[in-house]
Amino acid sequence: MSKGITPVDPNSFFANRFKNQVLFVTGAAHSSIGGATAIRAAREGAKVFCVDIKADKLNQTVQEIKAQGGQAIALVTDLCEAKAADHAVAECVAQFGGLNLVLNAAGVMDGNDPSRPPDFENTTHLLPAAIHTATDEYWHNVMNSNINGIFYSMRAQLRQLVAQEKGGAIVNIGSIAGIIGLPGNPAYSASKHAVTGLTRNAAIDYAPFGIRVNSVNMAQTDTPMVFRAMEFVKWAIDKGMGSGMASFKSASLLSAHEPDKRGATPWEQAAVILFLLSADASNITGACYATDGGWTTY
Ligand SMILES: NC(=O)c1ccc[n+]([C@@H]2O[C@H](COP(=O)([O-])OP(=O)(O)OC[C@H]3O[C@@H](n4cnc5c(N)ncnc54)[C@H](O)[C@@H]3O)[C@@H](O)[C@H]2O)c1
Repeated sequence: MSKGITPVDPNSFFANRFKNQVLFVTGAAHSSIGGATAIRAAREGAKVFCVDIKADKLNQTVQEIKAQGGQAIALVTDLCEAKAADHAVAECVAQFGGLNLVLNAAGVMDGNDPSRPPDFENTTHLLPAAIHTATDEYWHNVMNSNINGIFYSMRAQLRQLVAQEKGGAIVNIGSIAGIIGLPGNPAYSASKHAVTGLTRNAAIDYAPFGIRVNSVNMAQTDTPMVFRAMEFVKWAIDKGMGSGMASFKSASLLSAHEPDKRGATPWEQAAVILFLLSADASNITGACYATDGGWTTY
């Protein structure tokens, strides 16, 4: 009989851990990993600048922070544009007077606009597919969000952090697909391996500036992205297209032994992300943490 592990309490926080710190979060829509991190960081005293393309869900994150007595600002924008990333950082500095910490969580798994509900039937050309059947649009859209978006974001953030001369810390979100392959998801796997590369590169280039850069790389974490992916897998199986990403391995070590086979929660990810952004991680840079319940262990 397996004994489950109690997940991180969504209400837990360390008082004042990020007092007087400004945290910039991309992909901060409510119920996402970025949203949970923003909410917990605000409880811990951070002023949080929240960016996402999903207006309603982004505003929900900021409203929740304000309702709990925290400080947050929302900016709805598409980070695939370099100018949008530059503008977002400039706004953060204008509103909060600077920037200390960053979580780059924005990302997509398929080539659809993430702010629109999934319509697999009418967007088959944008869905994950093995290389020989993948379309240019699928490839370019995923790469644009997951590589160009994070490059533009990091460039704008690092320009500000370097100019401030006060150090800082960045956490990028990669994936198990940034460490190993993920069946049926060539653009996602390639783009997340690029996040690993950007993280390691930036760790080297910005150590002289006292800026630490790390990544977290999760398996199934129960957010809108995963619910969308599960719907996609079910749809693909029903269509006789195969089971894609769930075809070889469908659970992490911990998930396999959970009585309800649960994935990670966004709060479990937020706890590690905030540790990496905190002073307790003062000796950690260039690390690509497998926050994956043991997925990449076997
Ligand atoms: N949930 C998982 O199981 C899982 C597993 C591995 C990696 N990840 C990664 O974790 C990160 C966070 O994802 P999540 O699970 O919270 O899913 P999510 O879909 O809830 O959050 C991602 C957010 O990024 C936003 N976004 C995407 N492209 C954007 C763009 N160009 N501009 C602005 N915002 C944009 C989306 O609107 C969305 O709100 C992603 O990078 C994802 O690839 C998630």
